[in-house]
Amino acid sequence: FNVPIAVNEPVKSYAPGSPEREAVLQAYKAMFNSKVDVPLYINGEDVTTGNTRQISPPHDHKHSVGTYHLAEQNNVEDAIKTALQARDAWANTPWEQRAAIFLKAAELIAGPYRAKINAATMIAQSKTIHQAEIDSACELIDFLRFNVQFMSDIYMEQPESTSDAWNRVEYRPLEGFTYAVTPFNFTAIAGNLPACMALMGNVVVWKPSDSQIYSAKVIMDVFKEAGVPAGVINVVFGDPVMITNTVLASPDFSGLHFTGSTFVFKELWKQIGQNIHNYKTYPRIVGETGGKDFIVAHKTANPKQVATAIARGAFEFQGQKCSAASRVYVAKGIWEAVKNHLLTDLKSFKMGSPEDMSNFITAVIHEGSFDKLAKYIDQAKADDDAEIIAGGNYDKSKGYFIEPTVIVTKDPKYTTMCTELFGPVVTIYVYEDDAYTETLKLVDSTSEYALTGAILAADRYAIVEATKLLQNSAGNFYINDKPTGAVVGQQPFGGARASGTNDKAGSAQNLLRWVSPRLIKETF
Ligand code: ALA
Repeated sequence: FNVPIAVNEPVKSYAPGSPEREAVLQAYKAMFNSKVDVPLYINGEDVTTGNTRQISPPHDHKHSVGTYHLAEQNNVEDAIKTALQARDAWANTPWEQRAAIFLKAAELIAGPYRAKINAATMIAQSKTIHQAEIDSACELIDFLRFNVQFMSDIYMEQPESTSDAWNRVEYRPLEGFTYAVTPFNFTAIAGNLPACMALMGNVVVWKPSDSQIYSAKVIMDVFKEAGVPAGVINVVFGDPVMITNTVLASPDFSGLHFTGSTFVFKELWKQIGQNIHNYKTYPRIVGETGGKDFIVAHKTANPKQVATAIARGAFEFQGQKCSAASRVYVAKGIWEAVKNHLLTDLKSFKMGSPEDMSNFITAVIHEGSFDKLAKYIDQAKADDDAEIIAGGNYDKSKGYFIEPTVIVTKDPKYTTMCTELFGPVVTIYVYEDDAYTETLKLVDSTSEYALTGAILAADRYAIVEATKLLQNSAGNFYINDKPTGAVVGQQPFGGARASGTNDKAGSAQNLLRWVSPRLIKETF
């Protein structure tokens, strides 16, 4: 097996005057001031239904940058049918050819499509250029490149043979078709979920989030130009219940690759269970869902480092990361110092639209999210056991802007210490220095989730204790760092408990879920 060695795509700086900055600003302006019309994509063809919805930037929600078409049930049925028609030819396409297509897709994003996919993500998902570059350019490129390497690792895994019996394993794609349901918050995840299943020889029906349509369109343009054949990845937008009901009713449904809310994932799992007698195979179910990610700061931690971990872990990407720090436990002995550094850090966080590249934080994704966050902030203002020490303002007149907000609570089980908010709000509980062990137990028992978490401490015994007591509390555990920012090929990502099936995105383990190995024994 000879595949290119995967390397992480370097993150460009977008410094004033740099060519990449000029390119993305031009793309942003052109796309912001024109109207896109995004069709469904079925059997390699654009399909319009006439039933359309507006695409509006969350930071300027009265403005429209275009429309997208909503699928009818017959469109979803067509998507399934054409996927099944394409299945055998794709499954039998030599793996090198499949790999080459997705490696080409990576290079298209790294080059000619970089400004466009970043601008689409900035406009319709409200990300700053730095957020977009890390997500829709670098992380997506990394997924596409590393998946090829993981695929080759999988194919190389072969049993022992003898001179008169040759044992070999064929890593067949799943029979039937697979279903990708992807979120708004990462263009990279949206692209990776259908791509990694297709790379392994599967055919896919892909339902992106309604809030990620623009960059989904760019991804499909890239896949098409890279040579993904008609029918292999089919894209349908619209009513999630209708789409899911139609997909899961098919006897050929063979796998769900999901990133989104815990509630929806559990509902889909239930539905798959209810249909189990109709399926030809046991469908694979892989999901990455919610988080209530923590930072624990021991009394020996460096206060400035703790403040940076909180500020960046909680507020980068508007806190709209499943990995974002949202509950923090700080030892009393260092709290004053942590607080001062944190308030200083927050003063430098400018909020506003992505086209102003000095902004650090932009709008949250939609009105539903805005209203929910505003409600929790108001509640904290009213509650005696909570105090807002930074932020607390919000304004949706033009865009859905929520100031980075820090709540300090005396109750370690305060609502916002337990509930996933998915926005720029973090809650801090200050514990007595000598209550460290007790606090670790509290961290483990407070949340149903187990996605990411971080311990900051200088004392090695404190680190050892946290690593042990929190062994089931996070699928990605960070020591002396923020709990976010996993890089493909370096920190495979995923969590357990209510956070998902922990089939690490960006790993061979994930790709293994999309094959059904056949053992062949040949005797001589
Ligand atoms: N993979 C992303 C992170 O680690 C969500 O922050």
